[in-house]
Amino acid sequence: MSKRIVTLAHYYTQPEIQQMADKVGDSLELSLYAKECGADVIVFAGVRFMAETAKILNPQAEVILPASGSTCSLVTQTDVKALQKWREEHADYVHVSYINSSAEHKALSDWIVTSRNVDDIIASLYAEGKKVAFSPDRNMGAYLNFQYGYDMPLWSAVCEVHDKFNQAALDEAFAAVAGAKYLIAHPESPLPVLQQADYVGSTSGMLNWIKAFDKEPDAVIFVATEDGILYNMGLARPDLNIKQAPIYAGCQCNSCPYMKMNTIDAVKRAQAGEGTRIDYLTPQQMDDARLPIERMLEFSK
Ligand code: 13P
Ligand code: SF4
Repeated sequence: MSKRIVTLAHYYTQPEIQQMADKVGDSLELSLYAKECGADVIVFAGVRFMAETAKILNPQAEVILPASGSTCSLVTQTDVKALQKWREEHADYVHVSYINSSAEHKALSDWIVTSRNVDDIIASLYAEGKKVAFSPDRNMGAYLNFQYGYDMPLWSAVCEVHDKFNQAALDEAFAAVAGAKYLIAHPESPLPVLQQADYVGSTSGMLNWIKAFDKEPDAVIFVATEDGILYNMGLARPDLNIKQAPIYAGCQCNSCPYMKMNTIDAVKRAQAGEGTRIDYLTPQQMDDARLPIERMLEFSK
């Protein structure tokens, strides 16, 4: 019997890659799909931590990453050994980790969150009187601390793509628009940018905000996130004037180099069985990492 191959693509991949996929989504949607799709082979056109999450949730499946170099700066900037030491010294904290983390990192976590459920999960932990530490995204953690008055100790990694959005460049772009203007932003962006935003949320959250937009029809909507999602926003609302937020004056270009390693050739090769197999995690590592992910999935049901 032939194997059932399912191709997943994150919203940040190029339009032609999204068109090759059985399912396009944000990291939470893709994790859920990977768990329940019943595939023999999952080709994950995203980045490595996403393919690892798919393998952890569906260990029977063969998971293939089209490009071996497609990592994420939140992973590469995190020293997991130092994190382990911190955790051992602060056993009284509940450790909440963003899904943009390695399998080894997840195994050191009590909860995994995505940008879609992070607010609710951390609020519920604070409501239970817990002390919470957040890793690895410093910008997201700083935003949560600012927005809700938390005092979470933070880690120091950033998304190298979102961290480039710049308040001064935004001020300039805003000043150049005479009429109505809005800013929506992903919480991996720096705090001064998030403080200016009309909406802060996950990739899907921003897409839903655009779909529901019913204010001035000629407004300019700046989007502070990776450029791949502009394709989906344009498909959903071709009537709107949507622009990527600038990273410096006059430049509307900010793209994740790791997501863009998923070229047509690389995805085709992965669908033919070539590519990087996620076969290096031990059963113990997968079990330890699965627990905090399952906790999140149960919470988000
Ligand atoms: P989402 O969780 O919104 O899909 O974001 C993943 C990501 O890598 C953002 O940079
Ligand atoms: Fe990582 Fe940033 Fe790329 Fe998302 S956009 S995969 S957080 S480097």
